[in-house]
Amino acid sequence: MALERLDKLIASQGVYSRREVKRLVKEGRVLVDGRPARSAEEKTDPAAITVDGEPLGYTRYTYVMLHKPAGVLSATEDSRQETVLDLLEPPLRKRGLFPVGRLDRDTEGLLLLTNDGPLAHRLLSPKHHVDKEYLARLDGPVGEEDREAFARGIRLGELQCLPAKLTWGENPTEVLVTLHEGKFHQIKRMFQSRGRTVLYLKRIRMGPLTLDPHLVRGKYRYLSEEEIRVLLEKMEK
Ligand code: URA
Repeated sequence: MALERLDKLIASQGVYSRREVKRLVKEGRVLVDGRPARSAEEKTDPAAITVDGEPLGYTRYTYVMLHKPAGVLSATEDSRQETVLDLLEPPLRKRGLFPVGRLDRDTEGLLLLTNDGPLAHRLLSPKHHVDKEYLARLDGPVGEEDREAFARGIRLGELQCLPAKLTWGENPTEVLVTLHEGKFHQIKRMFQSRGRTVLYLKRIRMGPLTLDPHLVRGKYRYLSEEEIRVLLEKMEK
């Protein structure tokens, strides 16, 4: 990796601001290749840095899986309402993470937060048709005709939806829907067009990424190396 400024590298990890890095350097707490850093502007390889004796553990991008609860906005900031960024610990909030796509305020489930702009772009691009799977509870049962209508592609006024998959088990008011796009309120509007109301909605999968069943509502975790590898590999194609 190309050499970068110490203050930029350390601050990008979200724990210290650039100003704090300056102070750490003055106090001799930052070492580069084992010798005290000369200045906060010094250019270096991130692998050479230690802060208070600990390796920086630099990662360029951060990937977080959040189990979004209802009542929280899929946004980075809002003057009045709680956003998904507010659910993160303060150091993580400084890493420039943003949600990849939006879930409605009352929708729960899988939301990926990252600062990897190119990956987010590919995940959201209509060209890639990344499939998203949702669990929906409805105010009444669906049937074969609904399944066929979803498979043909529902028409919502001007909008012709892509074919979607609708399945259910024992209970035809609790269904799974797989979409290959993400229009505003899409699932709610698709069911509305079939005379049904969505009472509860949860996203359980986005492309190769499945919501961790151990992740309770409102909690998050970093993606595993394997999850990141598969995600990056899939989105390269
Ligand atoms: N469809 C909806 O209607 N809402 C969501 O949050 C996601 C998909």
